[in-house]
Amino acid sequence: MCGIVGFTGGRQAVPVLLQGLYTLEYRGYDSAGVALQTKDGIKTVKTQGRIKALEEKIEAGGEISSVCGIGHTRWATHGAPSDRNSHPHESEDGRVALVHNGIIENYLELKTALTNDGVTFKSDTDSEVAAHLFSRAFHGDGVAAMMDVCKQLRGSYALAVITGENPGEMICTRHDNPLIVGIGEGECMIASDIPAIMSITKRFIVVGDGEIVRVRPEGVEVYTSDGARIEKEVQTVNWDIQGAQKGGYDHFMIKEIMEQPKAVRDTIASRITSDNMPDLMSEGVGIEVFKEARNIHIVACGSAYYAGLAGKVAFERLARLPVLANVASEFRYSDPIIEKGDICIIISQSGETADTLAAMREAKARGAITIAVVNVLASSAAREADHVIYTWAGPEIAVATTKAYSAQLAVMYLLALTAAKARGTLTDHEIQNYCRDMKELPSMIEGALETKEEMKKLAELYHDSHDAFFIGRGIDYAVAQEGSLKLKEIAYVHSEAYAGGELKHGPISLIEEGTPVVALACDPALYEKQISNIKSVKARGAKVILITNGDFAIDPEMCDHVVKLKSCPYFMSGSLSIIPVQFFAYYVGVDRGCDIDKPRNLAKSVTVE
Ligand code: AGP
Ligand code: GLU
Repeated sequence: MCGIVGFTGGRQAVPVLLQGLYTLEYRGYDSAGVALQTKDGIKTVKTQGRIKALEEKIEAGGEISSVCGIGHTRWATHGAPSDRNSHPHESEDGRVALVHNGIIENYLELKTALTNDGVTFKSDTDSEVAAHLFSRAFHGDGVAAMMDVCKQLRGSYALAVITGENPGEMICTRHDNPLIVGIGEGECMIASDIPAIMSITKRFIVVGDGEIVRVRPEGVEVYTSDGARIEKEVQTVNWDIQGAQKGGYDHFMIKEIMEQPKAVRDTIASRITSDNMPDLMSEGVGIEVFKEARNIHIVACGSAYYAGLAGKVAFERLARLPVLANVASEFRYSDPIIEKGDICIIISQSGETADTLAAMREAKARGAITIAVVNVLASSAAREADHVIYTWAGPEIAVATTKAYSAQLAVMYLLALTAAKARGTLTDHEIQNYCRDMKELPSMIEGALETKEEMKKLAELYHDSHDAFFIGRGIDYAVAQEGSLKLKEIAYVHSEAYAGGELKHGPISLIEEGTPVVALACDPALYEKQISNIKSVKARGAKVILITNGDFAIDPEMCDHVVKLKSCPYFMSGSLSIIPVQFFAYYVGVDRGCDIDKPRNLAKSVTVE
């Protein structure tokens, strides 16, 4: 969680840090702060609230002249959001200021020892211990001090420190939390992710787990945890900062919904050959990977897990391979049974989700081949998996995922078709037909985007409801779960997703006069079954919004609204039916006055357990 930023160079640091923090704000946003090296020592300004509140507080305090500083936007784990718990944290003598992303698990033990030693704590955070430890270990060499601190910490952290003694220098490290260093001309930045450095450069290095970096305007020195100097590869971002800006839309979420055709087009473009076969060879995922496979484990969290559930349907029906789909937080502690040749596919937009990373490591340690479907370039999952398949969705800023989810679905179809080829469960001709359909998918998604106004009107009708249901069967059930999550996280509406056939086993008792039910019926094998389920809720007074691509006769008694989509191969239908559902959640959220891109209590990247 949270965002860390830092700058050192020749220009004024405050505007660069604020811009970086605005870019990182989606990662955590309950408080924010900066610490700057000035000619009168370190100056820290911090406040509860958003970056805007910080900017106002800085302005009110008068200009701070500084060319080196660090900043933080917080997602509280230890201690309530408040001014005093905001980062940066200073050492008692004010020589050191530190920002931390993550959780220091042994903070209590360390805090007790420091308190017994006479240190007075100013906050309730776990992070403050690191500031005091650094200050005690620091005798002029920041790298040596950070090495000492890291030996004492347990948990997950990205840390950045400035000191009064070493002007222009930042000392950073990371363990299980992301950190990159942007390398500009005579200036450098550190940040939790790439968009935050793009005001100065597109060139960056990824700090490895346990590595310690000394960042100065003229460049970076990287050290292993044992203090050995190492060289790192400098990478270059292949997209523009416009991709991480709103571009005239009211919210990132709606912009990203509208970008889905492009996200899917970019994701599949180089992965379907001219003779219409799936081709993941440049990622090392050829047919031989699936030849010996007995089970596929799909492991992810939240929406990525629901993308995995849609992938499960495709794998099982096309390749006849058993798929065990699990949420990562459960999988990692489930003593998972992995057999020889098993494949673990982890799905993650950020590539930094703590539970997903831990689950992947667990699967790898037990002998699974790991394939990571990841959006963020050079993220931890991308670096640690045996094979990485990037979703080329571009930067996703809204906390609620939309375009990364759609790109994940596309990768799942490609993987399932590759497995079907490996196992001979589909003929080449069938695979080629499906691949041809996949090439049409981006324009079919464009068609589905035309449901925008219709869904806006439906949102106007139902935004006051306290509860909602999403029902579906087969692939539609996977979409129902993602739709329900969207409505919960964006619009704060209590919502349940159920497999249509399961309603009668309990939840139907919650349906009353006027309860909105979004009913998905896009899986031809299950149309009739789903219609019976829809009728059963309608008979109990539900207001039914039917989303379908079928040509079956729609009994006017059966539903209140019909949203029609184009038909496509059943296993891809989730790529179309998710679109109206995303619009619905978005507009209900807008109508209810919710903070769309930064929903309460959430953060984009959940780097804590
Ligand atoms: C999506 O809208 C959610 N905010 C959340 O469920 C998310 O999908 C989940 O935290 C997984 O994140 P990841 O894809 O970065 O691993
Ligand atoms: N654990 C720290 C805190 O609660 C850092 C949280 C974060 O990553 O924002 O302050």
